[in-house]
Amino acid sequence: MDGNGRWAKKRGMPRTFGHKAGAEAMRKILRECREIGIRYVTCYAFSTENWKRPKSEVDVLMRLFDEYLDEAHERFDKSRLIFLGDKSPFSESLREKMIRLENETAHIDGFIIFLAMNYGGRDELVRAAKKLAQRAAAGEISPEDIDEAAIERELYTYPAPDCDLIIRTSGEQRLSNFLMWQGAYSELYFTDTLWPDFDTKALHAALEEYSKRQRRFGAV
Ligand code: IPE
Ligand code: MG
Repeated sequence: MDGNGRWAKKRGMPRTFGHKAGAEAMRKILRECREIGIRYVTCYAFSTENWKRPKSEVDVLMRLFDEYLDEAHERFDKSRLIFLGDKSPFSESLREKMIRLENETAHIDGFIIFLAMNYGGRDELVRAAKKLAQRAAAGEISPEDIDEAAIERELYTYPAPDCDLIIRTSGEQRLSNFLMWQGAYSELYFTDTLWPDFDTKALHAALEEYSKRQRRFGAV
C-alpha cells in the first residue's frame, strides 16, 4: 500500500492525511476481496524498516493503528485477523489489541486478513532459522529434517498457501522485503495509482490482468 505521502503532498496536506485516506482505501478493498471470494489478503501496513521514518510520523502511524484497531470489528467485519511480524516493539496498548483481535476472530475461517505490522520477509526467515536451530539444539529434530515444509511451518503465515498475486501501488517496482518466501512465485502487478486512489475498479483491473498471466512455476 504505497503512495500515501505523495497523495497528501499533491493536495498540499501533511503525510498523515494520506495515511488516513489510505486506511479508508484499505477498508474498501478488503471488503471487496471478501465479497468476491478471495480467501487470504495480506496488507503491508508497516515494515521492519519503517521505524527509520521521523519519530513524528511513526508516532502518528502508531496512533492511527491504535484507532483503527478499536474500530476493527466494523472495519474487518466477518474476517479473521492475523498480524505478521514481531509485536514486541509496539506499545502495550497496541499489542494487547492485536492479541485480543487475533483471539476474538480465531474461529473465523472464510476470509483471513494478514496485517503485516513490523513485518520484514528477511526477519521472518531469520526467526524461522532461529526456531529450527533451537529445536535442533534441543534434540527435537536433526538438521536433516530441515526441508521447505519445516521452514514453512515457522512462517507467520503458516498454514496459508503461497501468495498468488502481489500488487504494489504508486509506481515503485520492488518488493521491499515483502513475503520473501511466500512470494517466490507470485505474479507481480505494479500500478502508478497512489494507494488512497486504489479503489475497487483498480482492484478488478489488477485481477483481470492476473487472470491473463500464465503461471508455470518453473515447468513448461
Ligand atoms: C505507504 O505510503 C504507507 C506506509 C508505509 C505506512 P508512504 O508513506 O510510503 O507514501 P509515499 O511513498 O511517501 O508516497
Ligand atoms: Mg512509500
